[in-house]
Amino acid sequence: MAISGTGNLHRALSGYRCSRSAMVWSLVGLLLLLQLYSLASRRNVVRGDIQLHVSRHPLVRELEQVEEENIQVPPPKKKKSPHAAKRRRKRSANLIDEFLDENSQIRHVFFPDMKSAVDPVKGVENGSHHYYPGKIWLDTEGNPIQAHGGGMLYDERSNTYYWYGEYKDGPTYRAHKRGAARVDVIGVGCYSSKDLWTWKNQGIVLAAEQTNETHDLHKSNVLERPKVVFNAKTGKYVMWMHIDDANYTKASVGIAISDYPTGPFEYLRSQRPHGFDSRDMTIFKDDDGVVYLIYSSQDNSELHIGPLTDDYLDVQPDMRRILIGQHREAPALFKYQGTYYMVTSGCTGWAPNEALAHAAESIMGPWETMGNPCIGGNKMFRLATFFAQSTFVVPLPGIPGSYIFMADRWNPAELRNSRYVWLPLIVGGPPDRPLEYNFGFPPWPRVSIYWHKKWRLPPSWKVSK
Ligand code: GAL
Repeated sequence: MAISGTGNLHRALSGYRCSRSAMVWSLVGLLLLLQLYSLASRRNVVRGDIQLHVSRHPLVRELEQVEEENIQVPPPKKKKSPHAAKRRRKRSANLIDEFLDENSQIRHVFFPDMKSAVDPVKGVENGSHHYYPGKIWLDTEGNPIQAHGGGMLYDERSNTYYWYGEYKDGPTYRAHKRGAARVDVIGVGCYSSKDLWTWKNQGIVLAAEQTNETHDLHKSNVLERPKVVFNAKTGKYVMWMHIDDANYTKASVGIAISDYPTGPFEYLRSQRPHGFDSRDMTIFKDDDGVVYLIYSSQDNSELHIGPLTDDYLDVQPDMRRILIGQHREAPALFKYQGTYYMVTSGCTGWAPNEALAHAAESIMGPWETMGNPCIGGNKMFRLATFFAQSTFVVPLPGIPGSYIFMADRWNPAELRNSRYVWLPLIVGGPPDRPLEYNFGFPPWPRVSIYWHKKWRLPPSWKVSK
């Protein structure tokens, strides 16, 4: 009995210990569950809200379709020297090298010829309205559109879109042996459209200076990435652009002004904003009418952001350094449900590289990097932003969370023959990866840019009246 009594006691004690540890573990489990639940519900509050608006929108599903690209890299060309052959094999293994090789056998994949040009006049007859990223895109007079590094203005006074960009229809050359490929400045091209697809050439709205070599706009200099906004207070259209010399040492922004979206724009001056070097840049107009200048600075190692004055003709002293040490350029900003987003490229000149999406609750920062927004194509396409570089993001009113991502497929061998890559960009879905600031997943949805060989805006989408 004593033995069995001790046994009972043991059993009772171990049962007690068991149930105590079970209780402790249950409590820990419960706490963990509670924590997980609160995290999940916090995220759902934000994301569920967006999904409701975005993923269920039938027009968005149409834009989200992706296409794969199966590109065969051609075998190496015959070379006499075995070393050259080895080099060649190594090089051709990489699609970016193939893209940059003017003599590549698959050049037509990246730069389809005039035979496949997209012609809006014929297209309208066929009811087409399809975008073909990378194909030559003709204006209503049948000429290739010249609006590189461009930006879009929606003019509410005329219910018209204006596309401004670098008019690069001149010979490509290098100012000196190690200089970047360039085209003399011709000016800023402007095209107008009611449907974002049929573009009428409105001519050169800001022209280069032909004789005065000390003028910022002298043809031997650099004018890139022009962007235009309308100032409701002054009634003026204001253009900001990157102004440089052929060696990119002037690193300034230029400002021009006009009474009409179609110009002519009067060039006012250039400046180094906040006293800093400024190369790739853009401007962004917020809902409250405040316009911000965003530019790559400190030798492209970081971006700077700050508001413009009320007349949009100067910067205010307030400026924040963002994405410090990240070496980003070609910024393109947009806003969705109170959050600011930005797509940028890396700094590899005319060569394509990986895009990144960033987000911020306040436009002045902090900005967090979310990851590569590109979806579809193939891995190399995604790692090279579909062989293009960001320039602008156009909102599509009426389709919440949907935008057109505007990018340039540069052709450094013949810059005038660079192409446009326009693709649907959607805000929605879970983010790519945990971020630095909040030690976990941010409340922001993913930014996705979907590859399509051919796509169109939903036929029911109309320019708002
Ligand atoms: C890129 C930049 C372009 C142009 C080019 C010149 O990095 O985004 O706008 O400046 O360099 O090589």
